[in-house]
Amino acid sequence: MSAVAAALRLEDLAVDPYPHLAELRSRGAAVWAPNLGMWVVAGYDDAVSVLRDPARFTNDSPKSLIQATFGRQMLSVEGEEQKRHKQACLAPFTGKASRDVWQPRVDRLCGELLEAREKATEGGTVEVDLMADYAAPIALETMGIVVGLPSEDLARVRAWYEVLARSLANFEGDADVHRAGQEAAAAMREYLAERLDGQRPAGETGHGTLLEVLSGPGGTLARSEVLANLLIVLFGGIETTESMIGNALHYLLSEPGLLTATLDSRNQGEAAFLAAIEDVMEESLRYDPAVQTLTRHTTSAVRIGGTEIAAGQTVQCMIGGANRDPAVFERSDRFEPGRANVRKHLAFGLGNHFCLGAQLARAETRSALRALLERWPRVELDRASSSPPYGHEFRKPGRLVLRQKV
Ligand code: HEM
Repeated sequence: MSAVAAALRLEDLAVDPYPHLAELRSRGAAVWAPNLGMWVVAGYDDAVSVLRDPARFTNDSPKSLIQATFGRQMLSVEGEEQKRHKQACLAPFTGKASRDVWQPRVDRLCGELLEAREKATEGGTVEVDLMADYAAPIALETMGIVVGLPSEDLARVRAWYEVLARSLANFEGDADVHRAGQEAAAAMREYLAERLDGQRPAGETGHGTLLEVLSGPGGTLARSEVLANLLIVLFGGIETTESMIGNALHYLLSEPGLLTATLDSRNQGEAAFLAAIEDVMEESLRYDPAVQTLTRHTTSAVRIGGTEIAAGQTVQCMIGGANRDPAVFERSDRFEPGRANVRKHLAFGLGNHFCLGAQLARAETRSALRALLERWPRVELDRASSSPPYGHEFRKPGRLVLRQKV
């Protein structure tokens, strides 16, 4: 056991995980963290070897809190069963659907949110917390649009989400928190079942909402599987995307010279501006990923590098550690938009469980950055009232306060 692992505390990881992850990387392929009760993998190649080997590092385990809460759905099963679940949900989340069907809706939504803040202004200065007033509603409303839920139901969905998130982080096993989580999952399942029953199936294009796609004839999923997948998709797309948008905005507005350079790219035309936004988004996914951990369970005695691990152990792949591995990313601790190999980052995972919503989340973040810069090009972050990304599991800024003359 290494001293650093013994000292690994979630609070330290929440504030600034990267020095701790660098130290873990230097200690070996997999390090036992006794106060977390699991093995921690912080190097890029080692994380990849775990994620590419679902036969030995599985998500399908009775130890999985996600499986216990949501039931069997794509994230908690493996092999053919996993392919069947994921394939059934895929149509609304392809790159094409994200770009052609949802992106214009999200563009409109971003514009409306900014306009609403302008209208609420008195005296010519808008004050906005980009987390609460922009990133959070973009993520929630978009999930509503893509899943097919009415806007007026989304406050309820968000409230259930909060209870579920607390329950999934309940490593101490508090019985009340666990019960509240089970109740929220049951209420949400009942709500989604009602919505499903009132659905018309998607047309030939397959470009319907997730509810439409899943209610189509000849589906390959049982009703309980449909509901479990609806739950995991909704759960997976809310705080993750809010955090991804928030982190990208944080770096865009606080890295020296980056805002000016991104705005200046507009002088070279629309394509250059979009490329600059893409570079900021992708580098922020590498540099400070919104989801920090990927959990797997060993099915047999295994080796990671030189480390032996028994069957039935929990292995935590630290995405932030892999994304800052200097063996893969040069000057890995520097925020450098435009890296040639940036897309090797693991922010959306890897292998069979690669994020279903990656292209949609990218579409949302692109829209969010672009709409903000187009509408308010003279934005300035109020650093004193804002706070940087924080969190050991989901990582996002607490507040991102802007004041803007309109
Ligand atoms: C539209 C928004 C999103 C939706 C609907 C969504 C949904 C999902 C679903 C259903 C899975 C499970 C896929 C499978 O098991 O085959 C997944 C996996 C994953 N998602 Fe997303 N997601 C979204 C956004 C994000 C964002 C913004 C991030 C982080 C930046 C993220 C990170 C991940 C990661 C790391 C995994 C892999 C989990 C694992 O391998 O254990 N997701 N996502």
